[in-house]
Amino acid sequence: MNRVIPLVDQRRLDQAVRVQASGAQARGVDTSGQPPRDARGRPLRDLRISVTDRCNFRCGYCMPRDVFDGNYRFLPQPELLSFEEITRLAGLFAQAGVQKIRLTGGEPLLRKHVEKLIAMLAGLRGIGGQPLDLTLTTNGILLARKAQALREAGLARVTVSLDALDEALFRRMSDADFSPDDVLRGIDAAAQAGLPVKVNMVVRRGVNDHQILPMARRFRGSGHVLRFIEYMDVGNTNGWNMAEVVPGAEVLARLAAQWPLRALTPQYPGEVAERWAYEDGQGEIGLITSVTQAFCGDCNRARLSPEGRLFLCLFASRGHDLRALLRSGADDARIRGALSAIWGAREDAYSESRGSQPDRRDAPRIEMSYIGG
Ligand code: GTP
Ligand code: 5AD
Ligand code: SF4
Ligand code: SF4
Repeated sequence: MNRVIPLVDQRRLDQAVRVQASGAQARGVDTSGQPPRDARGRPLRDLRISVTDRCNFRCGYCMPRDVFDGNYRFLPQPELLSFEEITRLAGLFAQAGVQKIRLTGGEPLLRKHVEKLIAMLAGLRGIGGQPLDLTLTTNGILLARKAQALREAGLARVTVSLDALDEALFRRMSDADFSPDDVLRGIDAAAQAGLPVKVNMVVRRGVNDHQILPMARRFRGSGHVLRFIEYMDVGNTNGWNMAEVVPGAEVLARLAAQWPLRALTPQYPGEVAERWAYEDGQGEIGLITSVTQAFCGDCNRARLSPEGRLFLCLFASRGHDLRALLRSGADDARIRGALSAIWGAREDAYSESRGSQPDRRDAPRIEMSYIGG
């Protein structure tokens, strides 16, 4: 099957650039000096950069093997943004208010020499000169080998996906020839290298919800934060069904029946996970409830695809072709102007309308493996 190719929203990009080219902004320079806010007043804070659409897993909820098989056309190498292009764009995003950069994939550690990219990004500064929060989300298989180099390159922390401790279930869910021990070794290596670790577990009812308590037990007291993610209807290939969603409230009730928990206040507006601490001091957990309790109201995340399209929502079907702008020779001011205009026109809030507009569920959407969650 061919890649699900999101259409480039060239019309909106052209429009955005035209807006920048008018009046006081004739040279595409954002003269306001203020970081942009979108049409709902939301600032731009997080940039998620997908560095490859490839993965060494075939999780059924993300890259089902019958779709992502030998005939699937992944992006050819020359189509990917180079490290220099990524770093240039990331620097311009930082000037527009971005404080956190997360590398994703597919599996970001499959991108050759990714530590070089980390080193380049680590040199960037946000508004006010503060270093960026530089992190990545990985399935953990290559982490044991790479953790030290990533840390030395300037990675600040890492998030590792792990859906089950049970060996057979892990193999079934990841549909790959690896064991949960491989991931656990990666987590240990990251911790040893000095990287704070979060663990992401996507929960599917009737598939791995019986692993909620064993996973909590495994990570309590470890210093790693385990986050339970509601299974989402991302992309068009995973056959999502509401019956498989375990609401975060139910996960919380199951945990609290075993270990009392207390709510923690968010560290900043728009934080994705709702945080809870074990009353007995054994650490904290997170709930990511994008299905049952949408968090679009504060959503401050932009997503850059491996070949340089900018998506304003995880559920968008169109992206803005920043690679074309980069490769057209546009100067920094012009690209900065385009970013401000694109962000300024943003209205996306898919998770808020999921229930009220069920027909939108069939609309073409980017795949999770392409945009990295
Ligand atoms: P922290 O900075 O550590 O809090 O990371 P994060 O939660 O922003 O990132 P991570 O990659 O760990 O994402 C966790 C889960 O939340 C993944 O399943 C993402 O797909 C999901 N997620 C992250 N951002 C969004 C979002 O803007 N909308 C929706 N619907 N889901 C999101
Ligand atoms: N629903 C929820 N989370 C998902 N992830 C991948 N696909 C889905 C889905 N359909 C998670 C991964 C990873 C994070 C970036 O997104 O497991 O931890
Ligand atoms: Fe790979 Fe992560 Fe998707 Fe699983 S969820 S197939 S590990 S990108
Ligand atoms: Fe942000 Fe879209 Fe997720 Fe809502 S659904 S939180 S707008 S990425």
